[in-house]
Amino acid sequence: MKGIVFVELLAMAEDAFGEASVDRVIDQAALPSGGAYTSVGNYPCEELMTLIRGFSAHSGIPGAELQRLFGDWMMQSFGRHYPGLFAGKGGSLDMLAAIEGEIHVEVRKLYPDAELPSFDAVRHGADVMDLTYRSPRPLADFCEGLIEGCVARFGQTAEITRIDRDHDGLTQAEFHIRTGPGA
Ligand code: HEM
Repeated sequence: MKGIVFVELLAMAEDAFGEASVDRVIDQAALPSGGAYTSVGNYPCEELMTLIRGFSAHSGIPGAELQRLFGDWMMQSFGRHYPGLFAGKGGSLDMLAAIEGEIHVEVRKLYPDAELPSFDAVRHGADVMDLTYRSPRPLADFCEGLIEGCVARFGQTAEITRIDRDHDGLTQAEFHIRTGPGA
């Protein structure tokens, strides 16, 4: 998993819980990397899960909720760092429909060793889409937060329902997304 994900998780945790708490959680987690991440480095996804468990224990916020909050945070960060990827998209569903064929294709050019999930998007009219997430990593909650952050970034609201269909050690989540008028 790319270091940028870890750098952003620690930035969010520092914002939410303070620097001293972040240092304590990192110390207690006894991470192989020692908790020193560079955005272009690569680190095991298991370290991310360990950190999320640590922040969850520290804050009392369930891990799934933390993953979602982090996804939302990460999307705002993507929006600041890569505005070009959002430009020209009419709305959040256009953006989400473009992850597989365009957005993550660009990510792969920036980070050839990125470990990316796969997405199937089926559009049912202007406001409704089914988006299926598949990954060997257990990040469906993070994905949900990214989707929510994407909707917010386009100034929209949405009803999002999710059905988990994990199988054979793979994570699969089907998101049904219906966007409403601007927030
Ligand atoms: C538009 C909605 C997006 C969704 C729903 C989405 C979803 C995800 C998810 C769930 C992951 C975690 C890896 C996994 O689950 O297997 C991921 C990884 C990643 N995504 Fe996206 N993504 C989106 C847009 C973007 C954008 C705009 C960027 C901009 C650069 C981006 C860059 C990345 C990077 C760098 C990783 C980490 C890859 C790695 O760890 O090796 N994504 N994405």
